[in-house]
Amino acid sequence: MSENYNSEVWTEKYRPQVFEDMVGQEEILKRVKSLVNSMNIPHLLFAGPAGVGKSTLALIVVKQLFGASWRENYLELNASDERGIDVVRQKVKDFARTKALGDVPFKVIFLDEADALTREAQQALRRTMENYTSTCRFVMSCNYSSKILDPIQSRAVVFRFQLLEKKDIKRRIDLIAEREGLMISDDAFSVLYEASEGDCRRVINLLQATASISPNITPDLVSTIVSKAKPSDIKIVLDYALSGDFVNAKEKLLDIMLKESISGQDVIKAIQREIWNLPIDDGLKVALTEKTGEAEFRLVEGADEFIQLEALIAAFIMAGIGNNVGGLKEEG
Ligand SMILES: Nc1ncnc2c1ncn2[C@@H]1O[C@H](COP(=O)(O)OP(=O)(O)OP(=O)(O)O)[C@@H](O)[C@H]1O
Ligand SMILES: [Mg+2]
Repeated sequence: MSENYNSEVWTEKYRPQVFEDMVGQEEILKRVKSLVNSMNIPHLLFAGPAGVGKSTLALIVVKQLFGASWRENYLELNASDERGIDVVRQKVKDFARTKALGDVPFKVIFLDEADALTREAQQALRRTMENYTSTCRFVMSCNYSSKILDPIQSRAVVFRFQLLEKKDIKRRIDLIAEREGLMISDDAFSVLYEASEGDCRRVINLLQATASISPNITPDLVSTIVSKAKPSDIKIVLDYALSGDFVNAKEKLLDIMLKESISGQDVIKAIQREIWNLPIDDGLKVALTEKTGEAEFRLVEGADEFIQLEALIAAFIMAGIGNNVGGLKEEG
């Protein structure tokens, strides 16, 4: 493996540079694009889960506005590193003091993870925003907009980012696969996507980790990296349980948890996903999903994971008996 290969982080290498490179978030992109085209943006607040394009879009905005001189007109502050009020205030002051270079009459301050700021820091930020409106625009990102003071929210246009859909992440992954010379089966992509729960950064990181083993990305290879229960293994457990075979279901389950050291909670998540692929009627799927939720709750509360999972298997067995799906395995 070449040195070059290791030193490159794909999430950065493939960070979108222009609006068109981004996937998903269509409504947001449309609105932000038209704001940027008018060359006069309001303060912006990007809220939403991790790895879905908030920081990426902030950078695109700045690059579009300022072109080649974006660095001189842009200040990035990470609120979780610089919690203090004074740090933020002083840095902003120093930066905002000088006029913007070029045609755009303001500079942009990107405040990443703004929800990490204390209340006091947010109060100070609010006054700073007022003081420098003529020369500065704030672009803020946060995971939870509820942690941002109302007066700040009301001074900004709020955009709520969503977890990315499978088809959107697929477009990005296909592009990376092509450029990196990878072969990814559809099943392998599904495993990647499920493990990521719609977080594009996580998918790309998992892909890079998998690709460092082999360019031929298979579901098993991804599972090894993800170190979560393989869907095919979980399906075997559930098939045993629904056909009433408690002993084998339990043995297979222990196998998954002990040999592959997968936590009870990860097993439960995998079971919950797999329920929807079982050839049983929807009512039963709902009932089993509910049971899974209960078991998950108890685990979070500190219950013994083996006991809870065995109880869950018992629930699947009861469901199988009650609904006459005993011959499931043969019928498929
Ligand atoms: N919508 C997207 N389109 C294309 N790539 C994306 C998208 N969202 C995320 N990515 C990829 O994931 C990486 C991380 O995204 P980004 O830094 O924008 O996440 P974020 O939303 O700011 O997350 P956090 O809340 O953790 O800061 C990007 O460098 C890019 O490679
Ligand atoms: Mg970010």
